[in-house]
Amino acid sequence: MSESRLHLHFLSLILLCCVSPSSFFDLNIDYSSYVACHPHQTKALTEFMNEFDSSYCNLNDPFNGVWCDNSTGAVTMLRLQSCLSGTLKPNSSLFRLHHLRHLNLTQNNFISSSLHSEFGNLNRLEVLSLSNNGFVGQVPSSFNSLSLLSVLKLSKNELTGSFPLLWNLTKLSFLSLSYNYFSGTLNPNSTSLFDLHHLRSLSLGYNNFSSSIPSEIGNLNKLEYLYISSNDFFGQVPPTISNLTSLTELYLEHNQLTGSFPLVQNLTMLSTIDVSDNHFSGTIPSSLTTMPFLLSLNLRENDLIGSIGFPNSSTPSRLEKLYLGNNHFEGKIIEPISNLINLKLLDISFLNTSYPIDLSLFSSQKSLLHLDLSDNSISPASLDTNSDIPTNLENLLLGSCGITEFPNILKNLEKLEFIDISGNIIKGKAPEWLWKLPRLNTLYISNNSLNGFQGPVDVLVNSSVKNLFMDQNYFEGAVPILPLSINAFTASFNRFRGRIPLSICNCRSLTHLKLDYNNLTGPIPQCLSNLLVVNLRKNNLEGSIPDTFNIGASLQTLDVGHNRLTGKLPRSLQNCSSLEFLVADHNMIEDTFPFWLKDLPNLQVLILSSNKLYGSISPPDQGPLGFPELRIFEISDNKFTGSLPPTYFVDWKAPFLMMKKYGVLYMEYGKYTCGGMFYFSMEAIDLQYKGLSMEHGMVLNSYATIDFSRNSIEGQIPESIGLLKALIALNFSNNAFTGHIPLSLANLSNLESLDLSSNHLSGTIPYGLGSLSFLEYINVSHNQLKGEIPQGTQIIGQPQSSFEGNAGLCGLPLQETCFGTNAPPTPRPSEEEKEEEEELLIWKGVATGYGLGALLGLAIAQVIASYKPEWLVKIIGPNKHINR
Ligand SMILES: *[C@@H]1O[C@H](CO)[C@@H](O)[C@H](O)[C@H]1NC(C)=O
Ligand SMILES: *[C@@H]1O[C@H](CO)[C@@H](O)[C@H](O)[C@H]1NC(C)=O
Ligand SMILES: *[C@@H]1O[C@H](CO)[C@@H](O)[C@H](O)[C@H]1NC(C)=O
Ligand SMILES: *[C@@H]1O[C@H](CO)[C@@H](O)[C@H](O)[C@H]1NC(C)=O
Ligand SMILES: *[C@@H]1O[C@H](CO)[C@@H](O)[C@H](O)[C@H]1NC(C)=O
Ligand SMILES: *[C@@H]1O[C@H](CO)[C@@H](O)[C@H](O)[C@H]1NC(C)=O
Ligand SMILES: *[C@@H]1O[C@H](CO)[C@@H](O)[C@H](O)[C@H]1NC(C)=O
Ligand SMILES: *[C@@H]1O[C@H](CO)[C@@H](O)[C@H](O)[C@H]1NC(C)=O
Ligand SMILES: *[C@@H]1O[C@H](CO)[C@@H](O)[C@H](O)[C@H]1NC(C)=O
Ligand SMILES: *[C@@H]1O[C@H](CO)[C@@H](O)[C@H](O)[C@H]1NC(C)=O
Repeated sequence: MSESRLHLHFLSLILLCCVSPSSFFDLNIDYSSYVACHPHQTKALTEFMNEFDSSYCNLNDPFNGVWCDNSTGAVTMLRLQSCLSGTLKPNSSLFRLHHLRHLNLTQNNFISSSLHSEFGNLNRLEVLSLSNNGFVGQVPSSFNSLSLLSVLKLSKNELTGSFPLLWNLTKLSFLSLSYNYFSGTLNPNSTSLFDLHHLRSLSLGYNNFSSSIPSEIGNLNKLEYLYISSNDFFGQVPPTISNLTSLTELYLEHNQLTGSFPLVQNLTMLSTIDVSDNHFSGTIPSSLTTMPFLLSLNLRENDLIGSIGFPNSSTPSRLEKLYLGNNHFEGKIIEPISNLINLKLLDISFLNTSYPIDLSLFSSQKSLLHLDLSDNSISPASLDTNSDIPTNLENLLLGSCGITEFPNILKNLEKLEFIDISGNIIKGKAPEWLWKLPRLNTLYISNNSLNGFQGPVDVLVNSSVKNLFMDQNYFEGAVPILPLSINAFTASFNRFRGRIPLSICNCRSLTHLKLDYNNLTGPIPQCLSNLLVVNLRKNNLEGSIPDTFNIGASLQTLDVGHNRLTGKLPRSLQNCSSLEFLVADHNMIEDTFPFWLKDLPNLQVLILSSNKLYGSISPPDQGPLGFPELRIFEISDNKFTGSLPPTYFVDWKAPFLMMKKYGVLYMEYGKYTCGGMFYFSMEAIDLQYKGLSMEHGMVLNSYATIDFSRNSIEGQIPESIGLLKALIALNFSNNAFTGHIPLSLANLSNLESLDLSSNHLSGTIPYGLGSLSFLEYINVSHNQLKGEIPQGTQIIGQPQSSFEGNAGLCGLPLQETCFGTNAPPTPRPSEEEKEEEEELLIWKGVATGYGLGALLGLAIAQVIASYKPEWLVKIIGPNKHINR
């Protein structure tokens, strides 16, 4: 069939739609002679594009376009990438383009749109790509009528439900459902997957499929690409996998697969095998390394045992990347691994072997660029200058290897770009030659016992190092003068003294600066306003926070807590629209509450406790507080006054949001991306709640905390507090709150710590609090409460002191029984309370208006949090590696 491309710039489409229908056709006839598209079709297309904000669509760029059939004028191919924004409706004109054979709408923004069953009308489609769009809901059964499809891409959406009904798509050769929320099993009796005999590429990765791999997988014997990583696949890989003789890439990583290594030795086309992060056990089949096309083999993080045996084969292996780390190999590496002559990347970290590894074992790997030996013991002699190790090495990882002396071997490795010797016990001073390595880019020397630098004070200045991580050592004296081109410098938990050198202002590329937990004095330099992350916590800095943040400032994190800062909060922080963390607790800042930050779209953490802040805590208009993304809000121990209006918390939607990859520094290992990512935590926050110890360096996940304690806030606790479903800790103690404890607190089903002590609260403790099953700590002492304490298991296990000092509480854990006293009966929801509940519902309505996504978002967020592993990354502490 012949096609021609519609040469219409989108501007002309806008013009077309602005005129009356009749003139529309007049105009269009002109065009149709040129573009060979039928007027009806052009009209439908125009209408489709006008359903969205499509002002960025350029139909003339190489990726986008419209193609029509030369003889019929029907639109047969439509490609629009990254330019549509809006909701796709079931009556969309898209579904009138019945002749479409190729539809590619990758990476648009179809806000909370479903995959409407009307897609089934486009039953001439051969290629359908709707990846990366934000589609929600299930794949409708009407997709089953797209029987001509050979390519179906639905990856990177928010689709749910079980494997879609596709048994009629017998021509399908390419199917991608990865990065969605699909779930359920792949039972061959109920899924259509194993009928898709023509599949050459199957991607199901990053979903929530929970299934064994049925032996029917062997039916898909045309498969070349199989990607089922990051699901919950369990059990053994069936032997029928050896039927997939065309397979070139096999990705099974990050599941719960068990049993011996899959039978893949006969799949001679394989170039990539990744089975990492499963529970495969037994020994490694030695024939793997001699598979004819195998370039990359990843066996990390399994339960494989035995010695790492490599056949003494005369056939050189083609293998370029070999990951064996984090297994249970007991043996000693005796033989030089001589047939792996093409190896560029070798990861044998964390072998659990008791034998020290001698670096000279790798002397024959002349191609080796990346060597990861972390978490092994290394023979000290082999770290000496005379050791014979491959001199082309670009990345060398020797973290946690028990090294005690600075490894002089590095001096010979002039091509090194990335060095990790963190987590050792290296003493003394960092040698001067280190800074002369000509290509050094990233250096981890954190967690050692280093106490200074050899050489003059400006020894680092000419180094090429861009990322320098030296936290948790004993460096003392002045902060060194940094190389001009440095990007990240972290030196937390050292003993640096004196001022932050003004020379830092010359480092124009600096984005991350962490000097927290040192003993720095003097002012904060005025020049730090262009950084992304500034952490100066726990020093003795003085003066005020510089008021130098310009519009467009990229600041994401500012932590200046625990210093001696005075003055006001800088008003220019308003310009930092990327600001996520603002932490300035334990200083002497004297100011009113920063309502002027209430519109910051990304602010998630606001910690201003223990300062000299004063004035009313309620917004001047007595309306909601604002701060839509806030989830950690701590202002305890100030002099705040005022009362909280009923709608105070209705703007908050953030408690549902996910941990983003804060401060993630992603290192490409030269050209060879390695399994490990390097993170460094920028947002280590000390959160102290009674009954909850939240450790420094914890990950902020989908929860919220509020601490207003030790102020002089009065009035009622707003019922809208009950909207913050993600709240896990609430501290209103030591204020002057009056009225009843809000019934809506019983809705906070994730609450773990509740402190309302030392206020003037009256009435009874709401019955519903007894059923909060996560409540570990509750304190309502020193109020004027009366009646029966709700007898939930979490409550009666609390100490008596949590209830003492009230007017008339009775029941466990107190000794006063309610029986025979004049205490009011156990409060159950009364008419009045129901009214309050209704009020809450109204607020819920309001909240929904503010952010429907918020309430719906809860479910989605929890879903994501519950299984998306890279978002659940635990930051193990400053400068620690994960994925080890
Ligand atoms: C279809 O029409 C276009 C534009 O007139 C022309 O370039 C193309 O060669 C035609 N295709 C066929 C197969 O006739
Ligand atoms: C769809 O378009 C995107 C962006 O232009 C492109 O990367 C992708 O390969 C296309 N998909 C298909 C199936 O043609
Ligand atoms: C499509 O349906 C929406 C309601 O969902 C309506 O507002 C709109 O006018 C309809 N559009 C057309 C072209 O019928
Ligand atoms: C299956 O495809 C055939 C054409 O191959 C079509 O006639 C039939 O209607 C389709 N069945 C369903 C359920 O869509
Ligand atoms: C599928 O159905 C067959 C026949 O009904 C049954 O024997 C088999 O156990 C079923 N398989 C699974 C995985 O449920
Ligand atoms: C293996 O593939 C063949 C076709 O090459 C097919 O007939 C057979 O059913 C498959 N066997 C299994 C066990 O899947
Ligand atoms: C691999 O191929 C050999 C020779 O064809 C055969 O004997 C063996 O059974 C096959 N192994 C598997 C696991 O299919
Ligand atoms: C491998 O070959 C070397 C000599 O090439 C020999 O010394 C060694 O014993 C052989 N190892 C095994 C396990 O056969
Ligand atoms: C910090 O420096 C001050 C004055 O220089 C000194 O008194 C104090 O002991 C130092 N603190 C620490 C923890 O080193
Ligand atoms: C994923 O599956 C697990 C159990 O298989 C279930 O507990 C969890 O809720 C599921 N998550 C989603 C998003 O369906």
